[in-house]
Amino acid sequence: MSADVVTGRLIDRFGRLHTDLRISVTDRCNLRCTYCMPEEVVFRPREELLTYEEIARVAAVASRLGVRTIRVTGGEPLVRRDLAVLVRQLVAIPGVDEVALTTNGILLADQARALREAGLTRLNVSLDSLREEVFERIARRAGVARVLAGLTAAKRAGFRMIRINAVSIRGLTEAEILPLAEFCRREGFHLRFIEFMPLDADGAWAREQVLSGAEVRAILERSLGPLRRVEQPPSSDAGQPAVDYAWADGGGRVGFIDPVTQPFCGRCDRLRLTADGQLRNCLFSTVEWDARRVLREGGDDPTLAALLRDCVAAKRAAHGIDTPAFDRPARAMYQIGG
Ligand code: 5AD
Ligand code: SF4
Repeated sequence: MSADVVTGRLIDRFGRLHTDLRISVTDRCNLRCTYCMPEEVVFRPREELLTYEEIARVAAVASRLGVRTIRVTGGEPLVRRDLAVLVRQLVAIPGVDEVALTTNGILLADQARALREAGLTRLNVSLDSLREEVFERIARRAGVARVLAGLTAAKRAGFRMIRINAVSIRGLTEAEILPLAEFCRREGFHLRFIEFMPLDADGAWAREQVLSGAEVRAILERSLGPLRRVEQPPSSDAGQPAVDYAWADGGGRVGFIDPVTQPFCGRCDRLRLTADGQLRNCLFSTVEWDARRVLREGGDDPTLAALLRDCVAAKRAAHGIDTPAFDRPARAMYQIGG
């Protein structure tokens, strides 16, 4: 086969078209969130991580198969050196409309401008609490002030529609909900609450700890008044897992990502590339496709394309978190990429 025969789109057995590629660039992190990482962690040796050139090559082949948005994640992506260099490479790929970054914000103040200049289109910042004490209980490290400085720098660098992701955990985050909502309304950030998923490294997740989106909404409505569901226009970001609500007073929006109580697998359009070069068709995949091996053994673009197709073709209908047959993946969140 000639080196440039890469055609077709990534459609799975259930008719889902895949247009979103999430790329993890490292398993390292400067926090140790309990829902994601163990306290003591052994990271992958550097040589197992894909280089920026290798990542960009997978992304370019994926874009020829219809991928339009790329999201860069970790671990914490900003701990990898010169991330803006990769962003620039990804932005330059023909067919890629959007390059987004999910970060914990700790290093954002230093890098926001360079990321913006590299062409990064969207920023998602994780922040579960505005109170240092609770932040530390969750992240096992201090950080609120640095994240807030990062958010300020991001605004100043020209980022708009910055999203803040907050994980909800019963018995831990209830009191953080209102202050976060008020802060985001005031500052113009788009807040999204995410249900706790069984991807913690300690295997401590329990169904009872899932504080559902509906419960979070009830807490918000009790103090801030009614929320009205906003229908997504059919054309916009169809695979977007968040369901948005608007405040009655028009003071912005709040989104809910409810993978446990309201699975959105039916409209999933994502696939993932781990930092060590494995393709996954789901956060909860128990199988991976080895792109690093293809890259390092001199495989051509059609071979990479075939691997992407195989990965998508094997995708299951749903993750089944809430079913008895659910099997946790061997990797935790930091080893997959959020
Ligand atoms: N459940 C839900 N969300 C998680 N995240 C990390 N681990 C989990 C988990 N077990 C979130 C982070 C970040 C995004 C990448 O995923 O807080 O916002
Ligand atoms: Fe780091 Fe993000 Fe995992 Fe927290 S959730 S440990 S910030 S990678």
